[in-house]
Amino acid sequence: MKVVAVLYPGGSAAEETPELLGCAENALGLREMVEAKGHELVALTDTGSELDRHLPTVDVLIATPFWPAYITRERIEKAPKLRLLLTAGVGSDHFDLAAAAERNITVAEITGSNVVSVAEHVVMQILTLVRNYIPSYKEVIDGGWDIGKIAAKAHDLEDKIVGIVGMGRIGQRVAARLKPFDVQTYYYDYRRLNTPEEQVLGARYMPLDALIPQCDVISINIPLTPQTDGLFNRERLYSMKKGAYLVNTARGRIVDTDALVEVMNAGHLAGYAGDVWYPQPAPPGHPWRNMPNHAMTPHVSGTSLEAQKRYADGIRDCLLHFFEGRPLQRDYLIVDGGKVVSPSYSYAYQK
Ligand code: NAI
Repeated sequence: MKVVAVLYPGGSAAEETPELLGCAENALGLREMVEAKGHELVALTDTGSELDRHLPTVDVLIATPFWPAYITRERIEKAPKLRLLLTAGVGSDHFDLAAAAERNITVAEITGSNVVSVAEHVVMQILTLVRNYIPSYKEVIDGGWDIGKIAAKAHDLEDKIVGIVGMGRIGQRVAARLKPFDVQTYYYDYRRLNTPEEQVLGARYMPLDALIPQCDVISINIPLTPQTDGLFNRERLYSMKKGAYLVNTARGRIVDTDALVEVMNAGHLAGYAGDVWYPQPAPPGHPWRNMPNHAMTPHVSGTSLEAQKRYADGIRDCLLHFFEGRPLQRDYLIVDGGKVVSPSYSYAYQK
């Protein structure tokens, strides 16, 4: 069988840090195992023509959200042998799930592998915005000491209202980590938690359009589906409280690109952060790179060294099951038996 893994370039770090498993050079640490089992592993970074060249012969394709190979319906049609699509990480929106289901291609991701990593990044970025860290850091680098300029936009997180949109694995971990900051937490999800769970997290349910205008801080933690594409449109962004902060570590397309730039330029939001963009890698001229008051990073939150170990182990597990004709771990499945089966995605694909 031919396994193709499309991963980010590790550069000099690939050799210096062998634990950097998520890059193409280190190929998730899979090469020895795949070849020992008598299969072929191709690891590449080119998400364009080089990947296209392998489509007619690929059996298993591994992609990663951090450097996504967008596997569209057209590409699936060019891959007649393709039977398994794997995401090295969490979030499989780079695959056309409906097209994969129609062709009975199994889609799986490594559920839970990087949820702590992302939750920590969310908390870091919320504090970065609320405490006005980036201008403060720049002041140090620039040799200044303008306390007034920094302090005029710095707040405590205590007593603020935080809204979590998507109370799944990451959303719940964000809520748990923010609880000791004595915030008030509201959440929206189409699957409501039960009362004891709400009590443990200190979170109160609220419909989305009621939650948005009340919050000082909103964290987006839902998957990208046809329903959530552009969910934070111009109207919803303007319905946020003036001076509020928005953090999106879910997927770039959940927030309307141009509307966000407009809202930030208008000074309606005090800050925007997150690590997800569309497309990725974000081109040098992507309008979010230079909008005011942002604290964004490239897509790195879910690929800490610990996360890479967990998702590399999960991919290995999936491949071993697949090579031996055994079913994949149920928790990992997004599309199986011609249907979108993951509870987080299936809602959007119900006919
Ligand atoms: P999860 O599946 O545990 O939670 C997602 C939650 O969103 C579920 O509770 C689900 O009911 C809810 N949901 C789905 N569609 C919804 C809708 N239309 N309206 C309201 N609620 C909806 O997933 P997890 O692990 O918490 O990850 C969430 C997303 O975060 C992933 O799908 C992925 O896109 C993104 N992610 C980003 C990473 C990064 O490195 N920045 C790494 C890992 C995940």
